[in-house]
Amino acid sequence: MRVLFVCLGNICRSPTAEGVLRHKLRQAGLADQIEVASAGTGDWHVGKAPDKRSQAAARERGYDLSAQRAQQVTRADFSRYDLILAMDNSNLRNLKALQPAKGRAELDLFLRRYQSERDEVPDPYYDGDQGFEQVLDLIERASDLLVVELKGRL
Ligand code: 4NP
Repeated sequence: MRVLFVCLGNICRSPTAEGVLRHKLRQAGLADQIEVASAGTGDWHVGKAPDKRSQAAARERGYDLSAQRAQQVTRADFSRYDLILAMDNSNLRNLKALQPAKGRAELDLFLRRYQSERDEVPDPYYDGDQGFEQVLDLIERASDLLVVELKGRL
C-alpha cells in the first residue's frame, strides 16, 4: 500500500502529514507494509527541506521532518500510489486536472474522508505559529482514522 499526501508547496502541510502518518504507522507496527510520501502541486520549493516553522512545531510533538525534501506531484504518481490525499479543495482541483483516465490511485480530500468538522487543512504559510499548531491538530486526528482504514485494507 502506498499513500501520497499533496499540498501546494510540499513544505508545510503535506510533509507534516507524511511525518505524522509515518510515526503512527510505526507505532501500529505497520511501517513495513505501507509506504508514505508527500508532494506539492507547485514546483517552487522542489528539493527544499520542510519550512522551519513546520519542522519546529512537529518536533515539539515528536515528529522528525528534517530528512524530507520537496517534490512536485506527477501524472506517474497516479499509477504508483493507492491513495492520494489532498490538503485543500484547490489541491484537489489541480490533482483532478492532472489525473490520467486510467490509474490505480484513489483521490480524495484528506479531512473530508475522515469526517472531521472541516474539509480543508488551511495553508499556514503566511500565518503565525498558531496556524502550524492547527495544521498538526487536524492532521493528527485524521491520521488516527487513516491508520484504522489502512489496517483494514491490508
Ligand atoms: P504548503 O504551504 O502548501 O502547505 O506547503 C505553502 C508553502 C509555500 C507556498 C504556499 C503554500 N508558497 O506560496 O510559496
